[in-house]
Amino acid sequence: MKKLLSSFALASIALSTVTFSTLSTATEVKTEKQAKAAVQFRQALLQLVRSNMGPLGAMAKGNIPYDAQVMIKNGQRMEQLGLMMEDYFTPNTTAFDVETGALDNIWSNQADFNQKAQNMVEAAANVQSVAQAGATDDYRKAIGALGATCKACHDDYKKD
Ligand code: HEC
Repeated sequence: MKKLLSSFALASIALSTVTFSTLSTATEVKTEKQAKAAVQFRQALLQLVRSNMGPLGAMAKGNIPYDAQVMIKNGQRMEQLGLMMEDYFTPNTTAFDVETGALDNIWSNQADFNQKAQNMVEAAANVQSVAQAGATDDYRKAIGALGATCKACHDDYKKD
């Protein structure tokens, strides 16, 4: 019985940890300093997205040769970076005077914003699949579809 109880306790701790980490209040922004840090982190994340998209864009345009290894590596990175977006955009910075390209409507449409990040994740996974399959005819299309997910989100949630 004791063993049963303690494993129940462990299970409920695990459960409450999961719940807590997915609550947006877990990263509530309370000071301007926190807001500035949140902006720095999410912009740094997007700079890494940009740095990994660069070579893929050049490849799609034919400015650099097709390279399956680069597609796989950069696709993996962008998939991971895309998965981080939801967390890094959870802190709502709208109450603070911060220099940001983010529009306030992100925090009134979080489900849609997160879906658009998920679309980037899936497009980045597809870039890897296409390269792994050696589908050299499809690579431009796959990269183009990934690029379209940037625009789809920026159109709604980023200042011009
Ligand atoms: C789910 C929405 C979303 C997706 C998808 C997205 N972005 Fe963004 N991006 C934003 C928002 C919002 C900002 C403004 C962030 C800020 O300034 O706080 C931004 C900013 C940026 C910036 C400027 C960062 C800085 O230093 O100010 C770059 C570069 C960028 N995005 C590139 C990309 C590229 C390339 C892709 C696609 C591969 C992409 N983004 C996909 C929402 C998105």
